[in-house]
Amino acid sequence: MTTVWLDVGIDTDLEPGDMKRLDIGREPVLLANVEGTIVAVADTCTHEDASLSGGALDGVFVRCPLHGSRFCLLDGKAVDDPAEIDLKTFPIRIEHGRILIELSR
Ligand code: FES
Repeated sequence: MTTVWLDVGIDTDLEPGDMKRLDIGREPVLLANVEGTIVAVADTCTHEDASLSGGALDGVFVRCPLHGSRFCLLDGKAVDDPAEIDLKTFPIRIEHGRILIELSR
């Protein structure tokens, strides 16, 4: 397995409080701007098959649109039932105003 840094856009395209789904690599990724910090986690809820990009961003948490579990976007932790499994997180790097995500292939 190799790792690559994938350029996913300009950092100013994602304002604080914004999030978007990226269909890249093996699984969808949720990219979010949490109070000025760009983070990336798996977009699919660990409870059932729901896209977290359709949920709500609340501070450092994203709330699943299906059953309401919240996940911390900083470390992927599941903080509310019914989800019990944490989200995968992806390393992020900002270079020359571009957002790079580390993916395994
Ligand atoms: S699918 Fe996300 S909490 Fe159930």
